[in-house]
Amino acid sequence: MERILFVATEGLPFVKSGGLADVIGSLPNELRRKGYDVRVVLPLFKKIAINWHYKFTFLRTYTVNINFEEKQVNLFYYIYNDVTYYFIEHRDYFEREGLYGYEDDGERFAFFQKAVLEMLNQIDYFPEIMHCHDWHTGMIPCMCKENFNHDYRYRSIKHVYTIHNLAFQGNFGRLMLGPCLGLGDYVFDNGNVRFDGGISFMKAGIVYSDKITTVSPTYAQEIKTTQYGERLESVLRFREADLCGVVNGIDTEMWNPKTDSLITKNYTSRTYKKGKAENKKALQEKLGLEVNEDVMLIGLVSRLTWQKGIYLIIEQLFNICNQPVQLVFLGSGEAGLEEKLREAEVSNPGKVCFYCGYNEELSHEIYAASDLFLMPSLFEPCGISQLISMRYGTLPLVRETGGLKDTVIPYNKFTGEGTGFSFSNYNSNDMMHVLWEAINLYYNEPDAWKQLVKNAMNKDVSWEQSAEFYIGIYKELVGE
Ligand code: ADP
Ligand code: GLC
Repeated sequence: MERILFVATEGLPFVKSGGLADVIGSLPNELRRKGYDVRVVLPLFKKIAINWHYKFTFLRTYTVNINFEEKQVNLFYYIYNDVTYYFIEHRDYFEREGLYGYEDDGERFAFFQKAVLEMLNQIDYFPEIMHCHDWHTGMIPCMCKENFNHDYRYRSIKHVYTIHNLAFQGNFGRLMLGPCLGLGDYVFDNGNVRFDGGISFMKAGIVYSDKITTVSPTYAQEIKTTQYGERLESVLRFREADLCGVVNGIDTEMWNPKTDSLITKNYTSRTYKKGKAENKKALQEKLGLEVNEDVMLIGLVSRLTWQKGIYLIIEQLFNICNQPVQLVFLGSGEAGLEEKLREAEVSNPGKVCFYCGYNEELSHEIYAASDLFLMPSLFEPCGISQLISMRYGTLPLVRETGGLKDTVIPYNKFTGEGTGFSFSNYNSNDMMHVLWEAINLYYNEPDAWKQLVKNAMNKDVSWEQSAEFYIGIYKELVGE
């Protein structure tokens, strides 16, 4: 087995809205290093067009049929870090301000998926494995099996589908089945893609793929329950023999406090104390916080949405601000959450800073400068931020769910073990209890704290092991 094609809608360094882009920007590199021919196909979004288009090579033009109209696809490619990236260009569909959230998302991503399937024929490249990610690509295994089964080249492809977030499902009206997706009504009638009287791209991915993975073993269990299953739990239970969890890694070259050029002072697990102090001072100066290298700095870098447990922090803001700590929040999202964090900044000058927006450079500075990282998520399929923060010696305080449970070892006061702190129930008092424990440890037991930082920084958060796991899945599917 050699040829693997990743299909996704975001990936670094081209375009990012969340952790999916981190994964698509790093797992292929690791597979490539291990000797596989990995390629990635992405929509050519506006941000990519502005920053990268001039570097791309044009491959060919072809059409796909959507709503009884032949629509033109311009296909480009670019080799980056020895991985080949294909880009599907259609300016009306993809060159818009944002990536997702448009009324015609169903049509846009139906077009993308059809264009990807036709691309294989156009360039005569047929992977042994097609690895699709999240709902925007969930119809590919379905269309491939239903519409191309007569063609041996398509029939031989094995499909892996990774769920990064079950909460986003791509559910649309059934009327798009024929005109947009070219599928017969029977896939609705037999229930394969039917959901809530309409169709679900996510469900189709789950039903039609040869193997389904999600991004942590705990989330793989959780999504089979009503609490986390987003009403797809019974479908997931039905496929449970083919479902497994593989924890994400991060790009340990890009995220490396020893070499990171975006931070003020580079450091290692040996020099972290001095390094963090300098990064902290620089960040405090930059953000207008009181300059004090001894104060405990608590960081948060996140999409501001209900998933992330920001409400727990807001509920306890008064209590947290009564502690000898400083808080720095970076993120954007729901207006109500942004408003509350803005209020917190105004009421606590010099102590709380909220940077509303997306800022790559500032995120590096926060990971490097903070002592503690807050991530009390309601659910978290894997989480990338806690992996980055451990790598930077910033102890994560997390809720025990999904990948947070699988990657953060909670502090054990009897053995001194741990790489962070955790609590179990989604309840702000429980979170506060653990936060107090962390604050106490930071100020009163510096040796214990130091040990936790070293443990966190020495933890393997690379793709090494998980990439092997994926290779095992691919090989099993092709019968090697
Ligand atoms: P999710 O994908 O659910 O948003 P993850 O923890 O998997 O959560 O990944 C989030 C990624 O996005 C991390 O790399 C994090 O550093 C980054 N990120 C989130 N919000 C911002 C922001 N406002 N500015 C810069 N980077 C951000
Ligand atoms: C999703 C999840 C996040 C995960 C990321 C990458 O955005 O919310 O937990 O880390 O995908 O797999």
